[in-house]
Amino acid sequence: MVATLLREIPLQGGDVTDGVVRVGDTVRRPSSTSTPSVHALLRHLEAAGFDGAPRVVGMDGAGRQILTYVPGTTGLRLESVSDGALAELAVLLRRYHDATAGFPLSAKGWEGGSNDDKSPEVIGHCDLTPENVIFRNGSPVAVIDFDLARPTTRLFDIVTTLRHWAPLADPLDRHPLLRSLDVGARLRLFCDAYGVPSRDRRRLLELARVRFQRSYTVMRTRATTGGNWAKMWAGGAGERIRRAAAWLDVHEDELHAHLV
Ligand SMILES: Nc1ncnc2c1ncn2[C@@H]1O[C@H](COP(=O)(O)OP(=O)(O)OP(=O)(O)O)[C@@H](O)[C@H]1O
Ligand SMILES: [Mg+2]
Repeated sequence: MVATLLREIPLQGGDVTDGVVRVGDTVRRPSSTSTPSVHALLRHLEAAGFDGAPRVVGMDGAGRQILTYVPGTTGLRLESVSDGALAELAVLLRRYHDATAGFPLSAKGWEGGSNDDKSPEVIGHCDLTPENVIFRNGSPVAVIDFDLARPTTRLFDIVTTLRHWAPLADPLDRHPLLRSLDVGARLRLFCDAYGVPSRDRRRLLELARVRFQRSYTVMRTRATTGGNWAKMWAGGAGERIRRAAAWLDVHEDELHAHLV
């Protein structure tokens, strides 16, 4: 029994962090310079009664983070791309943002500074990919992997989420389950469910464009450090961002019409 609990089961999902394992009801992840800030944030969320994120258990003897394992599945499935699931994801993101209220918005201690030129409003998750959302019974119930969290605006985090889930991407680069969705209608659905005010809806696509430019530059720089970032870049990450930006240029007016 004890041997089973201590077995390390590799968890795969994302591209960046190697060595994420499950041990019993916990997950062990390598730590980084932002780990103290991330743990303080997760403790703040717990104290605020937010149940949609792992809890911090501590650090292990190997210097790895110990977090609670959140049961469920990650990655795209038929049920996770439904309109209902998208609306629930918007509500989850809203609840998460609201729960960060009161957490210091100091720029220190995070993996990079704010992504928006406007003053930070929340600690954004900033990486709400399908691999970083846990689903149970067809509903998104938790967000994991706070490695890119940082002070930013609500809208920036919304744009990042929509990049993956609307999605804001050239159909050529989309997962087959996302290929024929009505992106404009999904932008609106997400904004309605989150409660995005009209001034932010008007700025959404403009910020998506800024995000594409910044992601391209940041990823190109990170690729020079080697490792998994270099692999992602070599695998065409930069070209996918460029195609997404070009696709947005072509469809911007039509998408914008859903937001005003
Ligand atoms: N606390 C957790 N509860 C349940 N599953 C988890 C948890 N943490 C990680 N996982 C699983 O392990 C996978 C990888 O973990 P994580 O997202 O933390 O690292 P990563 O994806 O490799 O990093 P990145 O997203 O930066 O590339 C996730 O997609 C998820 O399936
Ligand atoms: Mg991940």
